[in-house]
Amino acid sequence: MHYLATGGTIASSTATDQGGAGASAPTEGVSPRLTAEDLVSSVGALPAGIAVTAEQFEQTASTNLTFEHLVALSARATMALRDGAHGVVITQGTDTIEETSFALGLLNPTDRPVIVTGAMRNPTLAGADGAANILGALLCAGAEALAGLPAVVVFNDEIHDPWFVRKAHTSSTATFTSGPTAGPLGWIHEGQPRLAHRPSPPPRVLPRTDCPPIAMVPLSLGDPLHYLADLPRLGYAGVVLDAFGGGHVSASHMRAITRLAAEIPVVIGSRTGSGEILRSTYNFEGSEMSLLRAGCVSAGVLTSRKARVALALLSAETPDDPLRRWKEFTERY
Ligand code: SIN
Repeated sequence: MHYLATGGTIASSTATDQGGAGASAPTEGVSPRLTAEDLVSSVGALPAGIAVTAEQFEQTASTNLTFEHLVALSARATMALRDGAHGVVITQGTDTIEETSFALGLLNPTDRPVIVTGAMRNPTLAGADGAANILGALLCAGAEALAGLPAVVVFNDEIHDPWFVRKAHTSSTATFTSGPTAGPLGWIHEGQPRLAHRPSPPPRVLPRTDCPPIAMVPLSLGDPLHYLADLPRLGYAGVVLDAFGGGHVSASHMRAITRLAAEIPVVIGSRTGSGEILRSTYNFEGSEMSLLRAGCVSAGVLTSRKARVALALLSAETPDDPLRRWKEFTERY
């Protein structure tokens, strides 16, 4: 199988130490330095039947990744899968896995999975989780049970669907969750990946490098959002409103949002981070019903961040009608 390393905590060390628990002064700070080969070696002896080719794709914090990186990373993974790799493992920083894994699944045209993982404890810390997560990812990459799934996140011995997975804790090694909307797809038991259930095949998008800027606007109590009307002028081609509760805004925002929705796609997401956007429950000014009447569209079951990724990729795929396939994404369940 093929392994693509991009940096993140899993690859991070100090300038003076190249790993080893307790090796560094806690105040010195770490940054991505360890190579793809270092990380494969950190796993130790690989299980029988697993052979890995390692490649350094990037060496950065995951907050620096862009849609251009993701399209190129996906192209590299696709090439490896088409060249016969059973699966591709990608390691990266955990901060953006909930977005990157979702994009990598949408961009994977093959029936072999891309497995994304990382670590919460860097290799200089006691109990570093990187090697165990890489091993889990390699086991999943070789597993027939995962064939047909375009991408999964494997972390802390759990297997997550990129459509639901979120980073939900700043430092815990159990930071990734697909709850409370869904649970993990499965887990790893004594070296064996187990799937409790399989999602239906998700839609895919064509890889295009020219994703236009899509804004995500956080709604918070009393914020007048003066910049809302300026977003098209600032170059944004779409907006996801990270709205209150089931998909609500203040009545005072409705005039600006109505004007905005006449110019660019406006998607209603929820700042709760889980559950599905309401469609027909509340009918006050600023409710989901008033937003839909104003021309906004729902993020459905997608979190605001995942809806933003979908809108960016679809805007690049079909610039003159980015919402043409939107229901494939929001009415999948
Ligand atoms: C990053 O996302 O690159 C830093 C944090 C992490 O890997 O956990």
